[in-house]
Amino acid sequence: MSTPDSDEQPIFTRAGEATLTSRHVIPAGESLPDTAKQIVEDETILDGNARLNLATFVSTWMDDDAKQVYAASFDKNMIDKDEYPQTAAIEDNCWHMLANLWNAPDAEKSIGTSTIGSSEACMLGGLAFKRRWQQARRAAGKDTSRPNLVMSSAVQVCWEKFCNYFDVEPRYVPISAEHKTLDGHDLAKYVDENTIGVVAIMGVTYTGMYEPVAEIAAALDEIQKTTGLDIPIHVDGASGAMIAPFLQPDVVWDFRLERVHSISTSGHKYGLVYPGLGWVVWRDEQWLPDDLVFKVSYLGGEMPTFALNFSRPGAQVVLQYYLFLRLGFEGYRAVQQTSQDVAKFLSAGIDRLDAFELWNDGSDIPVFAWRLTEGHTKNWTLYDLQDRLRMKGWLIPAYPMPADLEQITVQRIVVRNGLSMDLAADLLQAIETEVAYLDALESPMPAEKPQSAFHH
Ligand SMILES: Cc1ncc(COP(=O)(O)O)c(C=O)c1O
Repeated sequence: MSTPDSDEQPIFTRAGEATLTSRHVIPAGESLPDTAKQIVEDETILDGNARLNLATFVSTWMDDDAKQVYAASFDKNMIDKDEYPQTAAIEDNCWHMLANLWNAPDAEKSIGTSTIGSSEACMLGGLAFKRRWQQARRAAGKDTSRPNLVMSSAVQVCWEKFCNYFDVEPRYVPISAEHKTLDGHDLAKYVDENTIGVVAIMGVTYTGMYEPVAEIAAALDEIQKTTGLDIPIHVDGASGAMIAPFLQPDVVWDFRLERVHSISTSGHKYGLVYPGLGWVVWRDEQWLPDDLVFKVSYLGGEMPTFALNFSRPGAQVVLQYYLFLRLGFEGYRAVQQTSQDVAKFLSAGIDRLDAFELWNDGSDIPVFAWRLTEGHTKNWTLYDLQDRLRMKGWLIPAYPMPADLEQITVQRIVVRNGLSMDLAADLLQAIETEVAYLDALESPMPAEKPQSAFHH
């Protein structure tokens, strides 16, 4: 006879705790709440420690007040604008704040929305480009069957998805040791009358480097002079749009450049909110074609919505608002500066080791990458170092660079709020210890390439 469930029995001796059942079939009956909770907790303790995950750009720490704000709003659906008009108004406040932060000439004429992340935000930016281009071409009686989008070969995978899902030809400008980012060089070879726009990345995923948006805009100005083509820019500021305004206010990359029609960012990266939030803002309503916008009536008025998903958590938007109010400009500056100080401390420490050469040092966004010094060793690779560090709990991915540079392997650290100087010093020590271990090997490590935790 099977043991009846009773919460008086010691935990781990009860049905479901001391027995095995299929995890691919919903159990026939109920479990004790403690049993279900225990199983879930036990299975997830096998995950990596989020705070030691230096592969991700996404927030892994918020303060205790934020947790209360979160708990008080996790039942709100962002799409229910009639039911939650205040959450809708908060969303509106947030993207207006971003439009102002990104120097929109008149934020009251801008339009924006929250999204589930940068990927959705980028797709909306791409869709606006495509629709606007189609409308202009149709009006001129021209063919609309072959739109293309121009971007660096180091774009994040969301742009490959956009092109695939929405039938746009991707045109990748290869990066090289000489042109480490898309910088306007050779752009004329890639754009033509079917180009719906150019993507500029503020904080390239592979390395954290900024693409010089002003130089790209200047190259497009030249192209317009000679060909008449007026090609807009979308800035994919997944990380950098929440760093540059605070740490590099003199870098001109945003709506100060007229060619920049739209900017996206991840609220859940350097916006400092837990996963599930992105933003996209157009400098002026005219750049978001009206026929992409659905009107939802709320509070007696009409609320425009433009999104791929319908339901979405409202709590993340509320959390973003909490942080904008809690930190203000100066608080954000201090948080981002601290992350950058930690990044530079780590990159300087890594640069001191003979084994490594820095690709960049974290002075754009607090992200940097390095490679093995040529000729340093035949016995180990950065994949081996990744493995050794993982044994100590640190998740620090090694991966190949994009097309044309794929023979180069780099390793990358993303410094986020919550990687304290104290933890960083421990990490540097761990890297030194593991490098000394690997350098002492007398024969090569087995050549098997481990799985990379790189967020591409
Ligand atoms: C440049 C860039 N764009 C887009 C994304 C996708 O962001 P999300 O994960 O918010 O969809 C990332 C993620 O790392 C990124 O680095």
